[in-house]
Amino acid sequence: MKTIVISNRKGGSAKTTTAVNIASGLAKFGSVLLLDFDTQGHASIGVGSQLSEELGVHSIFMGKTLSETFIPTVHHNLTLSPALAFFDVYEYSNLQGILKNRFERESIADFFDYCIIDTPPTFDALLKNSLEVADSVVIPFVPHHLGVVAVGQMLRALYQSAYQLNRQIADVSILPVMFNPHILEHQECLQKVKTSFGEEKLLSPIGIDIKLAKQFESGSPIILDTQYSKGLKDYSRCIEELIQRL
Ligand SMILES: Nc1ncnc2c1ncn2[C@@H]1O[C@H](COP(=O)(O)OP(=O)(O)O)[C@@H](O)[C@H]1O
Ligand SMILES: [Mg+2]
Repeated sequence: MKTIVISNRKGGSAKTTTAVNIASGLAKFGSVLLLDFDTQGHASIGVGSQLSEELGVHSIFMGKTLSETFIPTVHHNLTLSPALAFFDVYEYSNLQGILKNRFERESIADFFDYCIIDTPPTFDALLKNSLEVADSVVIPFVPHHLGVVAVGQMLRALYQSAYQLNRQIADVSILPVMFNPHILEHQECLQKVKTSFGEEKLLSPIGIDIKLAKQFESGSPIILDTQYSKGLKDYSRCIEELIQRL
């Protein structure tokens, strides 16, 4: 099983949009588990489910197994562990290593080909638990100055977490989102990311497509559409590039 964490501490950087499309897209190739670690539960909504008030992925921090939080989705090959509404990570201490422990004790890797984790925009125990099981980290960013700054901050958080956990750094991919090639600032920001963090980390950009925002209404990610759209084309290419890196 390959685990891909979608993360950026900046809000509104298309983490959830990317998570639901990558998860649903990879489900065409194998069985996928989607963990909705953001208590807002937008990834759960994005795949046609709901966040839970009783049992969700965050319940593992209260002694539950991960497997008992699994629910099937309406989409082929896609299992969801939904967000637990109102979970407050700061009410708990000693949360380190719990997700890793569940992965190992429940042999999660025997049941899925891919695990995708959508994360909240915070550097807390939820993100650290996710990074601890990551084979790959995808950092989506909007190509503005603060977007580039946030990528640097996220990379530093990644290196710090790997150092603290005495763990090898996961493969990192940086994904420009809502990119418009006709906007000079977008091009400049892409160039800055290439020179500052390494061209090899950069995935091909995702353009602006309002259908990517509308998809949350229907609970069906754009990647599952049969009709052509820019979002479908861009995320399909993104998944191809990701598979090559895994
Ligand atoms: N490529 C895109 N084109 C147009 N709208 C997008 C695109 N990607 C994301 N959005 C919209 O931008 C907003 C933020 O995206 P979201 O995935 O929720 O970000 P995050 O999870 O990082 O907070 C949402 O309303 C989403 O529908
Ligand atoms: Mg989100």
